[in-house]
Amino acid sequence: MARGKRKTRNWLEDKKGDMYTRKAHRAGYRSRAAYKLSQIDGRDRLFTGAGRVLDLGAAPGGWSQYARKKISRGSIVALDLLPMEPIEGVTVVRGDFTDAAVRERLLALVSPPAYDLVISDMAPNITGIANVDQANAADLAERVIKFSSRILAKNGTLLVKVFEGHEATRIRVLGKSTFRQSVVRKPDASRDKSREFYLLLRERRL
Ligand SMILES: C[S@@+](CC[C@H](N)C(=O)[O-])C[C@H]1O[C@@H](n2cnc3c(N)ncnc32)[C@H](O)[C@@H]1O
Repeated sequence: MARGKRKTRNWLEDKKGDMYTRKAHRAGYRSRAAYKLSQIDGRDRLFTGAGRVLDLGAAPGGWSQYARKKISRGSIVALDLLPMEPIEGVTVVRGDFTDAAVRERLLALVSPPAYDLVISDMAPNITGIANVDQANAADLAERVIKFSSRILAKNGTLLVKVFEGHEATRIRVLGKSTFRQSVVRKPDASRDKSREFYLLLRERRL
């Protein structure tokens, strides 16, 4: 792309990012990420019939705030490595998703022990080494898909963040082989230059 065009595109991207940041601030959302979820939900109706929701990588809490708006009754459990300010109606768990004991704790918090909707915006810390970062992100997405296929209700839904890269195809294939429905979503609120996209998976096959 010519330098001038790239500059214009970056400028437009920054404007868009600022617009979502201001909008989130006005609406009382803790992060502009809330708009990624709301845009996917606007199209795919994620919360229909969802009484038990698990938010993975929840801090600072934009997705959990949005989930709380969508379901006033029911259970919302939010997990993050980092501390997160409480949200009324949301059970916040601090821990590492890759730790089996933490995953068991997430299950013990709902009765019966299953979720209707898992939303994962988890992203590992960036090392700056492209191959390592892609492998870490793919590893996390793979764990989320496998865990969700075990703990989702039969018609449950999983929304999981994935990063483009050499591992992304493997994750897409895993999604398709684990769930009957699989679609890719890239909401407007996600920066074009970000390699993130979301896999929306419904109806586990097991
Ligand atoms: C992009 S942020 C999530 C933003 C959030 N969806 C919101 O709306 O505010 C990604 C989060 O994933 C969390 N995370 C990354 N690896 C994790 C892990 N292994 N276990 C739990 N949380 C993790 C990070 O601490 C970070 O807070």
